[in-house]
Amino acid sequence: MSMLKVEDLHVYYGSIHAIKGVSFEVNEGEVVTLIGANGAGKSTTLNTVSGLLKPRTGKVEFMGKEIVGVPAHKIISHGLALCPEGRRVFLQMTVQENLEMGGFTRPAGEIGASIEDVYQRFPRLKERYKQMAGTLSGGEQQMLAMGRALMSKPKLLMLDEPSMGLAPILVEQIFAIVKELRETGTTILLVEQNAQMALSVADRAYVLETGTISMSGDAKELLTDERVQKAYLGG
Ligand SMILES: Nc1ncnc2c1ncn2[C@@H]1O[C@H](COP(=O)(O)OP(=O)(O)O)[C@@H](O)[C@H]1O
Ligand SMILES: [Mg+2]
Repeated sequence: MSMLKVEDLHVYYGSIHAIKGVSFEVNEGEVVTLIGANGAGKSTTLNTVSGLLKPRTGKVEFMGKEIVGVPAHKIISHGLALCPEGRRVFLQMTVQENLEMGGFTRPAGEIGASIEDVYQRFPRLKERYKQMAGTLSGGEQQMLAMGRALMSKPKLLMLDEPSMGLAPILVEQIFAIVKELRETGTTILLVEQNAQMALSVADRAYVLETGTISMSGDAKELLTDERVQKAYLGG
């Protein structure tokens, strides 16, 4: 079943035409990755899907429902969460307070159990529950941003460059978590510049080039595709 369907999306920043007719789909249970160079339009696409930006034209359907024009906080309560580029955790709040913020769409009585779920997945966060988010390492902040997004119990989790700026060992950990999330039933749309890792973990992939999809297909096939190797894998 198609969980997310984006059709012929066009997004502008003033007169800059950043997304030029992008279409893609994410099916239930899949990990789909959107790869592309810096400036290709990856974040613009995710921010539009999550309701933070408005497209000029085009359709975004989530669970069979049109969501263009639906406010971002409503989209989250429908089960579509974004873990934004650059983490954007609340630096002056503790780890636990950040997680509470992530649960703002949930019934108060369920928050505690969800925080425990996040701590099970990210034991490092549990050890630091009273620590200010601003004092966490980059990798810990990424885990917190992911945990905060998971607090809304998303059906579809969108991750915008979770590996950005992290040491290789932490990149491995973040991708291991992506795999675990998929195994426990979360559908994932992963945006990455790290094409190698993203294609290794994903089922399907789309390549975004200056606002348009230039290639798409099975992730493992794209991993060995000559054009992809040349452009994104240093091959
Ligand atoms: N707030 C903005 N105002 C004007 N142009 C923007 C803004 N944000 C992004 N852009 C432009 O839109 C294009 C796509 O950017 P972005 O979606 O951030 O790419 P990516 O996430 O793939 O690096 C780029 O040319 C970028 O310069
Ligand atoms: Mg980006």
